[in-house]
Amino acid sequence: MFHHKPLEEMVVYQIYTRSFNDSNRDGIGDLAGVTEKLDYLSDLGVDMLWLSPFCSSPNDDMGYDISDYQNIMTEMGTMEDLDTLLEEAHKRNMGIMMDLVLNHSSDEHSWFIESRSSKDNPKRDWYIWADEPNNWDSYFCPEAWEYDEKTGQYYCHIFGVKQPDLNWRSESLRAEIHRMVEWWLEKGIDGIRFDAIHLIGRPEGNPDYVHAPGESKRFCHFRNHELGHQYLQELSEKVMNKYDPVTVGETGGSTPEGARLYVDKSRNEFDMIFHLGFLEDDEFEDNPAQNYKKFYEKWYKQLSIDGWDAVFLGNHDLARVVSVIGDDEKYWRESATCLATMILTQWGTPYIYQGDEIGMMNAGFTSLDQFRDPHTTIRYRVAEEKGEDTEAVMKDIIKWGRDNSRTPMQWDSTANGGFSEAEPWIMMARNWEHINVEAQKGKAGTIHSYYKKMIALRKGDRNLAYGTMEMVDSEAAVFAYNRVYEGRTVQVILNLSSSPAAHRTADFEDDQVLISNYPSLRKNVSGLMLRPWEAVVIG
Ligand code: NOJ
Repeated sequence: MFHHKPLEEMVVYQIYTRSFNDSNRDGIGDLAGVTEKLDYLSDLGVDMLWLSPFCSSPNDDMGYDISDYQNIMTEMGTMEDLDTLLEEAHKRNMGIMMDLVLNHSSDEHSWFIESRSSKDNPKRDWYIWADEPNNWDSYFCPEAWEYDEKTGQYYCHIFGVKQPDLNWRSESLRAEIHRMVEWWLEKGIDGIRFDAIHLIGRPEGNPDYVHAPGESKRFCHFRNHELGHQYLQELSEKVMNKYDPVTVGETGGSTPEGARLYVDKSRNEFDMIFHLGFLEDDEFEDNPAQNYKKFYEKWYKQLSIDGWDAVFLGNHDLARVVSVIGDDEKYWRESATCLATMILTQWGTPYIYQGDEIGMMNAGFTSLDQFRDPHTTIRYRVAEEKGEDTEAVMKDIIKWGRDNSRTPMQWDSTANGGFSEAEPWIMMARNWEHINVEAQKGKAGTIHSYYKKMIALRKGDRNLAYGTMEMVDSEAAVFAYNRVYEGRTVQVILNLSSSPAAHRTADFEDDQVLISNYPSLRKNVSGLMLRPWEAVVIG
């Protein structure tokens, strides 16, 4: 029987299933492909595999539009493949976390087909219908409401037109969701990531959203509403408490105080959440080290009262970490390993995104037809229709577009990076011939070997897993903190810049260096002379 590790000692690895490993030569990654790579993952040292959606889907949003919650997407294999994956992962002491998309379904889900068929269909209120649109915004489209001719009403979609929002106010819908989640837990799923779960609470009558004084005007719809918390507590009481899955909610727009409502143990909602604070904060780029310090400090202060955190820098919605936060031109290896040190030494469960362990870079897109994410292409088309500056949009999506992190995993230097024997569904990222697992695994001085060592350190050092977090004063470019546990201090020192920086450290002997990403340290009387993107952990 598999039992997951305590959250403090766990390292999660995110698999973008479509792009991880293709076992049946259709150019799309699949579940059997993940099973083939379990030894690789176990060798890396990760404990929990979060798989981006594998349920049936027409893939209008790459699986984040589910058309059958209890079936496997044709391209990804069969339920038997999932059973095998679960069994084989458990044999290797790894758990499987699934991605459940419960804020919305696909418009091709039978529930929506029934719901839209007539106003008096029993499932009519499983979705959000109205005679007139209100002022809510959509993330993906110019409008959040779509007119449906059949019944002359509009349905709400905070994401794409083909992603109608589920109406959690309906008790019968919630009962069906409870039944379905329980079915997955009975099957042996070890964790659930709850997609866009900050959006499920919508007040009765769909009132217009009124921004609170001083609140950013960027998003006009309800996020993290009290009703959502009630639904999550109900789900815990009725289903989750009977099992012990690891749970993580994706909750955009939460403040540290708001996040506590999700993760405080007494409230019985989630183990941890993905708060996207540093992505929503425009100041971030100005002074990364000091902003990370402020960021992690404020979240730690609130969440450590009685909760826990999730720590990540990359995922399938973001551009590649080494390209947008690090320096993929001059300090590729150094910045990739420095950022790895940062997430693996924080207070909170670290999440590694596939390919970051070999320093995969932004794809190097040059034209619109190379993109596959509808959200990205819609954005360009809308700008075009409105006569806006499409060149600026193109520049932006080349750098920040989500497809940057969705290109196939780079296993080796054979055709298609060893991902598939067929043409992949999306192009390979630049430099795949050089940046791949085969070129790095088992070789000293590579990003991969650093990740492996850093993961082992994180899991084996109780300070890094359980210690409190104390921020340390530093030069602007340096992010320094101590992890303190039972009278011992571990110092983490990160130069988050492509220039040298100095750092005054507490006294230490050379043999106390637990890990560093340069072959040797440069010390002087007052401490360390850090080279670009140098990371040092001393304990
Ligand atoms: C968040 C997911 O991470 C993203 O990929 C998706 O497009 C939206 N939620 C909608 O499900």
